[in-house]
Amino acid sequence: MRVCVVGGGGREHALATVLGRTATSVVITPGNPGIPGSVAIPPEEIEADLWVIGPEQPLVDGLADRLRSAGKLVFGPGADGARLEGSKAWMKELLVDAGVPTARHGAFNDEAPAMAFLDTFGDLFVIKTDGLAAGKGVLVTTDRAEAIDDVRAKLRDGGVVIEEGLTGPEISVFAVCDGTNAVALAPAQDHKRVGDGDTGPNTGGMGAYSPVPAATDDVVNLVMESSVLPTLQQLTKRGVDYRGVLFAGLMLTPEGPKMLEYNVRFGDPETQVVLPRMTSDLVELLAGAAAGDVRGEPTFSTDAALTVVCASEHYPAAPRLGDPIQGIADAELVPGVTVFCAGVGPGMVTSGGRVLNVTALAPTIGEARERAYEAVGRISWPGMHYRTDIAGSVL
Ligand code: AMP
Ligand code: GLY
Repeated sequence: MRVCVVGGGGREHALATVLGRTATSVVITPGNPGIPGSVAIPPEEIEADLWVIGPEQPLVDGLADRLRSAGKLVFGPGADGARLEGSKAWMKELLVDAGVPTARHGAFNDEAPAMAFLDTFGDLFVIKTDGLAAGKGVLVTTDRAEAIDDVRAKLRDGGVVIEEGLTGPEISVFAVCDGTNAVALAPAQDHKRVGDGDTGPNTGGMGAYSPVPAATDDVVNLVMESSVLPTLQQLTKRGVDYRGVLFAGLMLTPEGPKMLEYNVRFGDPETQVVLPRMTSDLVELLAGAAAGDVRGEPTFSTDAALTVVCASEHYPAAPRLGDPIQGIADAELVPGVTVFCAGVGPGMVTSGGRVLNVTALAPTIGEARERAYEAVGRISWPGMHYRTDIAGSVL
């Protein structure tokens, strides 16, 4: 099968690499200069048998619908399903209707009811933008004054969602859906804050690892039964034929797993640790789901994978771009290491906030971490920074 991957980040580099194990050919549009097979051709004009759409924006903009109406086989939801990520308020309403365990919340467009609702929470405030924010529109704080300011700022930009603060380890579960059925991939854990020890602002993700000891098979099965399948049923009720990834972002609270949010695409950088562990055929899985018939449980190596995101100076506030990247080839000489390229521009210079995902496979998470950091040590550009504590909580 000839596969076309749409997108240009580390997630798409990992998708293209793992799809390439069994595909006849893989092209990636637009890709980036660090990803082999990158072409600057619109997805509609590429000759392929299967289209896999990586990022949320083209999904929200209806790319999957346009391709499907041209008769193409597409893995990725239409604009109707992508609303799950495009509007947190709509997602929350659907979660409640589906009976999915989630944080108590309210969605507001006006200040007075928003502030009254904020007053019903005691110590931990969670304030979210009601719109696409690339994982960066969320404030979690114990400071009431900061929470009030943030509610006002988010109301000025549109709507705001206010939530009960939950605590516990966070996991990401990717459910591959065919409209009615779904199968889960191996869980991963992301590290959202920019700094070591979960300090500083939220980012798109600074590193990830898989498997996650707390996310046992029983936990994943529970999430599929109590959350993902009821969500698919609700989507069907609303006339949405959801063929793509439902990315469940969960907190394992003392009362059980609770849904923080859904995304309508693979996670970045979680994909960079989940897919390299896969031992079954990804092309067959995604093509089956795209055709409305997802079959067989995907299988995964017992090896662990860990990825470290190398970011540009001043990411996430104001990343500096255009710095030459050194040492990728050297880094890949470390056994088990692959470097997935994200914010990489022509001439191999930095062109985004998150630049590289240095990913290692090894028999244990500890060994994967040693390999990944040895490889990171071989890479450099002015101002490069990364977290030094990926998977620290489980070692
Ligand atoms: P989201 O974009 O909704 O996944 O939120 C981004 C991050 O904010 C999550 O990964 C969590 O770390 C944190 N977060 C979101 N909602 C909550 C909540 N209800 N309680 C505690 N932390 C949360
Ligand atoms: N790493 C989190 C996300 O992809 O949204």
